[in-house]
Parts: sequence; structure tokens; C-alpha cells
Amino acid sequence: MNAEHKTVAVLGAGTMGSGIATVIARSGHRTLLFDVNEPNLARGIDTVRGFFDRSVQLGKLSETDATAAMERLSGTTELSDLAPSDVVIEAVFEDLTLKKEIFGRLDEIVSERTLFHTNTSTLSVTGIASGSRLPERVVGTHYCNPAPLMKLVEVAAGRHTADWAHRATREFLGSLGKTTVVTKDRPGFIVNRFLIPWENSCIAALESGLGTRESIDAAVTGALGHPMGPFQLLDIVGMDIHQQVATRLYEQLRDPRFFPPPMVDRMVAAGDLGRKTGRGFYTYDDTRLFGS
Ligand SMILES: NC(=O)c1ccc[n+]([C@@H]2O[C@H](COP(=O)([O-])OP(=O)(O)OC[C@H]3O[C@@H](n4cnc5c(N)ncnc54)[C@H](O)[C@@H]3O)[C@@H](O)[C@H]2O)c1
Repeated sequence: MNAEHKTVAVLGAGTMGSGIATVIARSGHRTLLFDVNEPNLARGIDTVRGFFDRSVQLGKLSETDATAAMERLSGTTELSDLAPSDVVIEAVFEDLTLKKEIFGRLDEIVSERTLFHTNTSTLSVTGIASGSRLPERVVGTHYCNPAPLMKLVEVAAGRHTADWAHRATREFLGSLGKTTVVTKDRPGFIVNRFLIPWENSCIAALESGLGTRESIDAAVTGALGHPMGPFQLLDIVGMDIHQQVATRLYEQLRDPRFFPPPMVDRMVAAGDLGRKTGRGFYTYDDTRLFGS
């Protein structure tokens, strides 16, 4: 696969899918965003538009480039519309059966040379790849959240991933301006092995009264050099997703540092999931993920 512009399908228009679609469209590739229903799709497209609008306001993108990027993006709820894709990136719910099934269905729709990327956080790339008749084309590409702002993508080969697919994947990610690190197909890859216990310790610190959400966020940005504090980040990630990722990693690694503190369950039960529901650690008027 060469570095010219591709047709790229993104499956799932949620937090990660809309962020990844933003990156793809911004990089000049034709972008097909797919979700199971119109409201979810519309919300994802609105998130992409919101990100470009904000980039224009901040002077980081010209209006002409933002308009061109939006014109490269189209949405669909029909899987058959993804037929021309050179690359498909799945960012649907973290569910092994669902991810395998989607790859199996895509086998019947796209070309045999189409790359299949999975953005799973905790599942086995090998397990997901087993849903495809051609597991050699399946590669784990774990984007960091928020995908339009974070440069790093972890790349993990499954047991049957071919060298050509791994190489083409790294080239493709280069065309998006991403930096890649190669990691093994293991629970949490590299980033979540460190991030999840750390986020849990920040939540536990808040719960114990060590600091406020503001003081802990300020301490982390001011002293550790992070671009945002843990609670600002968790509000973007979504508490439901944090709960799920942390629990899944705990189940696989049996290390108590991964087990989510009780506050996580209470927030999820209350529907305080973060930006997407308008309330998490902070409250938001704009529920778009990259809104102000
Ligand atoms: N949130 C994060 O910080 C983060 C970071 C890296 C990776 N991930 C991974 O990315 C994936 C998506 O996570 P998210 O946070 O974007 O979740 P999300 O809940 O925000 O979005 C998931 C989307 O998938 C859609 N969907 C469900 N079934 C589908 C199907 N059959 N076909 C197409 N779309 C379908 C849903 O309608 C929803 O819009 C998960 O595997 C997750 O583990 C999440």
C-alpha cells in the first residue's frame, strides 16, 4: 500500500470512532463513518464538525481546510457502503463477539487486500482476527484519546498478522501524522498498563479527600507536565469505558491496582459518564467531546 489518499471506513461513531474519523478526514483520506443507527451516526458527525469548528476558532485550521475535510467525510448505516475501503478501522463496543462478527461480515464486502484495524483496549487482537477468514490482514491499532490531539498509536500484531499488513499499517498511520509504538498482543498493551492504575489512584485520592478534582488536575498538569488532568481526561474517556477497561484488565491480570475504586460504580450508576452525558467529574453545557 502506498502513501496516497485512501478510502477509509471507521466503524462506530462514538468517542473513539468520531475522533479517529476526524484524524482521517483531516489527513486527506476519504472517510466513511459507519454506525448502527442514524442518531448515533449524526452525533458522531456533529462531534467531527465541532472539532473542526473549534480548530478554526483557535486558528489551527483554515476555514477552507475545515470545509474540505468535512466534504471528505460521509456517514452511513449500511455496511455494504464500505465496499470501496482500503482500510477499515473498527471502534465499536468492546465486545469480542461483536468485533469478530463485524470482521466476518466485512470479509464478504471489501477487497481481500483491505486492511482490518481494531481499536480494542483490552481484547486479544488474535481473538478478534479469528472472526475474519483472512486473519493475516488484521492489526491492532490502539489510538489514544482524544484521537485528534494525541499523536501516539500502539500497533499490535495478532498471532497470524502478516508482515505486509503490519508494515502497511505503520505506513498508513504515518500518513495520519501519528507516531507508532509496536507492542505485543497482551491485555492493555503498553499505555493502559500504566494509565489505568494511575487513573484509579487519582480517583481514590479524590475519594479519600486528599484533594479536590481541581487541585488534583492542577497538580498533575502543573507538576507532571500532562496536557490535561486525570479528571478532565476521564470525562472525555467516559466513566463507563473506564469501568469496563479497568475491570477487564483486572480480570485478566489479577492485579488489584486495575480494580476500579467504588466512586466509579457510583458515577456510572448515576449516569455521570463525563462529557457525553453532560456531567462527570465536571459539568458541561456542550456534550460534544471536543466542545468548549
Ligand atoms: N474511550 C476511550 O478512551 C478508548 C480509548 C482507546 C480505545 N477504546 C476502544 O475503542 C472502542 C470504542 O470505544 P468508545 O469509547 O468509542 O465507545 P462508545 O460507546 O463511545 O462508542 C461505540 C460506538 O459503537 C457503535 N456500535 C455498536 N455496535 C456497532 C456495530 N455493530 N456497528 C457499528 N457501530 C456499532 C455504538 O452505536 C457507538 O456509537 C472500544 O473497543 C474501546 O475499548 C476506547
